[in-house]
Formats: sequence, structure tokens, C-alpha cells
Amino acid sequence: MCGIVGILGKSAVATNLVDALRRLEYRGYDSAGIATVEHGALERRRAEGKLRNLESRLLSEPLAGRTGIGHTRWATHGRPTERNAHPHMTANVSVVHNGIIENFRELRLALEAKGHRFETETDTEAVVHLITDEMKRGLSPIDAVREALTHLQGAFALGIIFAGNDDLMIAARQGSPLAIGYGSGEMYLGSDAIALAPFTDAITYLEEGDWAVLRRAGVEIFDRSNARVERPVIKSVASSLLVDKGNHRHFMAKEIHEQPEVISHTLANYIDMVEGRVNFPDLGIDLAKINRVTISACGTAYYAGLVAKYWIERTARVAVEIDVASEMRYRETPLPQDGLAVFVSQSGETADTLATLRYCKVNGQRIASIVNVRTSTIARESHAALPTLAGPEIGVASTKAFTCQLSVLACLAIAIARARATITPQQEMELVAALMEIPRHISSIIRNEQPFIDIAQELSKATDVLYLGRGTSFPIALEGALKLKEISYIHAEGYAAGELKHGPIALIDERVPVIVVAPQDDLFEKTLSNMQEVAARGGQIILISDAPADSVGCKLAAHIQMPTVSAFTTPLLYAVPTQLLAYHTAVVMGTDVDQPRNLAKSVTVE
Ligand code: M6R
Repeated sequence: MCGIVGILGKSAVATNLVDALRRLEYRGYDSAGIATVEHGALERRRAEGKLRNLESRLLSEPLAGRTGIGHTRWATHGRPTERNAHPHMTANVSVVHNGIIENFRELRLALEAKGHRFETETDTEAVVHLITDEMKRGLSPIDAVREALTHLQGAFALGIIFAGNDDLMIAARQGSPLAIGYGSGEMYLGSDAIALAPFTDAITYLEEGDWAVLRRAGVEIFDRSNARVERPVIKSVASSLLVDKGNHRHFMAKEIHEQPEVISHTLANYIDMVEGRVNFPDLGIDLAKINRVTISACGTAYYAGLVAKYWIERTARVAVEIDVASEMRYRETPLPQDGLAVFVSQSGETADTLATLRYCKVNGQRIASIVNVRTSTIARESHAALPTLAGPEIGVASTKAFTCQLSVLACLAIAIARARATITPQQEMELVAALMEIPRHISSIIRNEQPFIDIAQELSKATDVLYLGRGTSFPIALEGALKLKEISYIHAEGYAAGELKHGPIALIDERVPVIVVAPQDDLFEKTLSNMQEVAARGGQIILISDAPADSVGCKLAAHIQMPTVSAFTTPLLYAVPTQLLAYHTAVVMGTDVDQPRNLAKSVTVE
């Protein structure tokens, strides 16, 4: 999604703006630009594609202003061209924007009727002309923005600078995150604390409806009713070393390798290691009495929730309703009295997940969210925020955040089961012991990547790949397919293995690799039967299993030998080979692994 930065600096800010934008690259973008106030006039440089294009532009046409805004754009309205790239501007006003102005067409028509000439296909340009129009009516920049904000509908974060005013920047937040940073004689604006980490760790997050007037001397913040408000200044933990890939070629590789450590940290947060039992925070609801859990999320986080459905239903004997947030938010689903609703999100800013959370909150549910960004909107709007300790995830393809989400959800399932006495203390200790073994087993898998590199050579030649699994391996099959398609661009689908004969089997021939996720659990024999059906039709089977290759009774194109672990914990472990297969296939294909085309890390629009 789009990223915003702004700096009121003591000296020229162009280089720092680009550095800050680089730290937002992980969100995904297709063009970038900056604007500064130069001798009282607004100047900008923009470029299609990667930041390096903007940098070369700045080399030949530098900007010297001390006040500036910058933007990485992920196209929503209008193609990813230089013309549509932000900042957008008139002679008086320059704006960067993240989100969608839903009523931009009406605004544009009204402004065009007044003589404003639009140059782009974007919704953002309506904001620029709206503010300009208010200023032409004689309002000061601050009054003009305050007035303009009352006309905007939709979700947005804005950064605004003005010609003739070297010590003024205005920020506004409604639906999209925005952070203000405090320096010594300098002030900053960013979509998140990560962007600002090299400059400051003193951060204020604007709340819904807030707008702020920044000057070098400080900031004044106003709420949606224009009342002056104080918002807390917190110490950000975003690391300035964040852009470091260590010894890895890609962030995704680094993040896959970090999993043993970050899963350990996450589990340690929810487990009493001495007692060997789950130590789950009080969610403010009696877990013994709930009769339904509602889970919602998007993408990979949804698949984590789907694994939890199996865990909670089987272990705690509570029905779980789960749906992708983009559907659940509009389904008007009836919700139980005093139910528990769980939201899963790495970024904590996903627009659909947030909207579903709000629906459940208004309808009386107790809200628990599993988030990686503790200061995110979803965390702040929840009754209980359950952090994953994955650390910043930069690769667009989620890896360590997924397994950390699973770690928290596994502990939640055990906590509910304990409260409802559906497991004995002894069983709880066995489940916890099995969870605590997972980091060690993951280490053993990632220690030798050669089998994945070899299989990736073959996978990279495929145009379609199927993933099969049953039980908790079904969501892992879905997640494996998502991982492969998003970074290698190979078409991949995950199916419940039992569904194969109801349609997908028609796709199988000798050109179609079929990746079977099949731990030796109580459904293993059933999955083996489905595998035989694939083999009989010439499908190229890649088996991920703790069962030896020679025990499965059919020809395998490849076999990934897994350690044997408790059936409860297999999703945590079996996610890892699917990540490595996707990663190495993308490397063979030479795609942009960390920032795949068309994708954004933080999806703040619906
Ligand atoms: O930040 P979130 O966890 O809410 O994001 C949800 C999805 O957008 C995300 O998981 C997406 O599917 C990833 N690209 C998957 O790798």
C-alpha cells in the first residue's frame, strides 16, 4: 500500500525523504515521488517503478528544500504512471495520500465546474484542488485544510505542504495509519514508525479523525470535532537497522530463517515454561462459557485462523465460525450473545479485517486480536491485543508472521480447552511440550535447503501446481499455494485432498506437479488414497511427510522427509517446507521476491 513520509528539516530533506521511503518499500509500490518547498515555491520529482528511478531523477534534477513530503504509490485509481504518481500539486498546495477518497468523482465534477483543471486519473488530485479552492476563497492553509476535510469521504492519510510556507506541514488521518515523529528542531511524518526509525524513536500515532499541524517547534493535534487534543508520545521499538538483510539475499529468506527464534519468543509469551502450561492473558470473557468463536482475517492470516478452527473445535469442543474479512464485513452474520471474536493480522491495519472487527464490536463481541504491530489500529481497537513476537516482517510474502500467528492460536486453543475442561492437565502439558519442540524441528529443516533448491528447478517449469492436504494440512496446502503464486507468479491452488475427485482431478496430467502435505496423522491413510488417484493419472507428486518415501506405495517425483512431531503441531512445521519451495522457485525464476508485482504488505484499502 502507499507509504507517506514528511520532514520539516534543518537542511535539505530530499535524501532523507528517499531513505525514509526506502523503509516503506516493503509495503509494495509501483511509483514514487517527493515534493519540497524551494524558495517559497513547490517543486517535485516523480518516477515510475522503483525508488532507484526517483534517485536518478534527483541526481540530474536535485531538490534543495528543507520542507518536504514523499510517497510510494500502490495504484488504486489510475495506472502506475509518473503522471499519476504523488505528490500531487497546484501552485499552492502539494499532497501525498494513502487510502481512497470515495467521493472523489463528485468533488472533481464540482471543482471542474469552478474552473479547476485536473491532470491525473487519481482520487487524490481532488483533495489538492479542494484545499486550493478553499485558499482561493481567502482561507489560511490551516483553515483551508480543516474545511476541506469535512468534504472528504473514505479512508485516508494525508501529508500536505504549502507554497510560501517553509515551516508548515499538515497531516490528517481517517482510516489509514499515520505517525508523527519528534526530532531536535525537526519534525517528521510517516505511515509508520519504521519509516522514521533513523531519525527518531519518539512517535505519536494519530487516532481516527485526527489532524495535525506540524512546525519545526512541535505539533498541534486536533480531533475530528477540531478540539485540540494531546496524544501520547511513545518510544518506538522500530529498529534503524531494519533494512539489513543480514547474510541473506532476500528479506523473505532471512525471515524464514528467523522462525525458530521468533516462534520461541512468541511461545514464551504465552507459555509458563517452568510449569509447562499455557499462561494466557485474561481476555475479559469466561472461556468456559463461550459457545462460539468467530475468526476473521485476510490472506495468510486467514489461513492461520483456519488452522485454529480445527484446533479449537477438536481440542476445546467449541464451534468456530470463520470467514475472510472482505466477506464477513458485509454478510451481516448473526453473532452470539457475549461471543469471542478473534482477528488475525500481521500489520494490524488491514482495512477489511478492521471493518469486520468493528462490526463484531458493535454487535457485542469480546474482541481479541493477534497482531504483529502492537501499536496498530487493530491492536488499539481490540479489548485484548495478543502480540506475535515476529519482529518487523519486510518481505511481502508472509512467513514468520504466519507461524507466530499459529503459535498464539495454538496457545489460545489450549487455553479455551483448559477452561472448558476438554483436556486434562496432563494433555495440556503434552501439547505445550509439543509446541516447545517446534523451533528445534524447524531449525533442522532449514539447515539443509538443497532438496528445496533441487525441487524448485522442476517447479519453475510448471504453469500450474496443485497443493493437497486434509485436516490442519488443508490450510497449509492453501497457504503453500498462495506463497508460490504470489512470489513466483505460477498458478497454484490448494485443495482439501478429499475434494480432488469432485473436480480438480480433471486438471491432473504429467505436467502438473502436485504437492501433498501429509503428516502421518489420523487422516494420513485417506490422503494416501487421494495421492494414488493423482499417481494413476500421471501427476508429478512431491510429498511432504514424515513417512518414508518407500512406504507410500506410489511413484514420487520428490519427497521431503519431515521429522515426526505431535499431530497438533504439524501445521507449524509443515508451513516451512512450503515457504522454502516457493522461495527457491521464485529465485530460480528471477522474480522480485520481496516486493512481488501488484502486491502490498499492508492492505489499507478494501
Ligand atoms: O497484515 P495482514 O496480516 O492483515 O495481511 C493480510 C494479507 O494481506 C496477507 O497475509 C497477504 O495475504 C500476504 N501477502 C501473504 O503472504
